[in-house]
Amino acid sequence: MKAVTVTESGGPEVLRVVEVPDPEPGPGQVRVRVYAAGVQPVDLAIREGFRPPGVTAEPPFVLGNEFAGVVERLGPDSGHWAVGDEVLGFRLLHSQAELVTVDAAQLVAKPAGMPWEQAGSLSASGQTAHVALTLLGVGPGDTVLVHGASGGVGTVAVQLALAWGATAVGTASERNHAYLRELGAVPVAYGEGLVERVRAAAPQGVTAAFDAAGRGALEASVELVADLNRIGTVVDYPGARRLGVRQLRAPRTAERLAELVRLWESGGLRLEVSEALPLERAAEAHRLVGTGHVRGKVVLTM
Ligand SMILES: NC(=O)c1ccc[n+]([C@@H]2O[C@H](COP(=O)([O-])OP(=O)(O)OC[C@H]3O[C@@H](n4cnc5c(N)ncnc54)[C@H](OP(=O)(O)O)[C@@H]3O)[C@@H](O)[C@H]2O)c1
Repeated sequence: MKAVTVTESGGPEVLRVVEVPDPEPGPGQVRVRVYAAGVQPVDLAIREGFRPPGVTAEPPFVLGNEFAGVVERLGPDSGHWAVGDEVLGFRLLHSQAELVTVDAAQLVAKPAGMPWEQAGSLSASGQTAHVALTLLGVGPGDTVLVHGASGGVGTVAVQLALAWGATAVGTASERNHAYLRELGAVPVAYGEGLVERVRAAAPQGVTAAFDAAGRGALEASVELVADLNRIGTVVDYPGARRLGVRQLRAPRTAERLAELVRLWESGGLRLEVSEALPLERAAEAHRLVGTGHVRGKVVLTM
């Protein structure tokens, strides 16, 4: 199979799309023929040498933590999945390839009408947003400030906030304000004067803040939200320690992913794929994500 491999740490030019042996599903696993796999900022960090918790691999290895495709081979005891099932799922590394083996418990059935590109880019940013709003206890009556609202994580976070009965205020540059309004959020420009602009946009006050942007978002949040326990980040962990706010982490699960799929099926979750590129153009995908200004997601297709 072909796969996006990192052979040495460095810029996008170190990525290699090469033939590697087809993986075989072990006990409790299935093999999925991948049609689409999302690219995340963490893929770029791993390419540059960062190793998140749970990643012990040293080059060469295959990038990618989320995918959608069709079950094409079953390992022993792989549960209820059947060859031909359309699925989406998650696995730490190994996903940006024509084939991925994965624990059967890390898959969810793909709705027939969900486009492959959207399905392949839902798990990582969707589950990150779900974890964050769950840990912050977002619910009816809240006004939630989402920093980085037009990115992959923020796009899902503002819609989850609305689905859970809250009002969402989202930060983005002006060019994404119409997009945020379409999602149902009140848009606010980031940068100097952010705190005053949020106060004007949400005179009722902000009750929780989720940082999916870094770059000073936490400092602004502590001026706006009284309860430090209701401020959290998935980006700026040193800032969280310094300011006494929360580092938002929790395991990815199929149950979480299934809840997001149900929200999509009900019409409550729009997934934005701004670029879908063939696997061979992985380096270009990394350059795009590396701009820090992607709306929604960048996806590789096979
Ligand atoms: N810890 C975890 O488990 C975890 C998991 C997934 C993601 N993350 C992190 O979460 C962050 C968000 O990821 P992502 O996938 O959504 O993609 P991303 O590429 O970080 O987000 C792109 C978006 O950020 C916006 N943006 C850029 N500068 C901003 C600023 N100063 N303030 C507010 N928004 C700004 C851009 O909007 P404009 O184009 O309008 O500027 C763009 O739409 C990343 O740092 C990622 O590493 C963490």
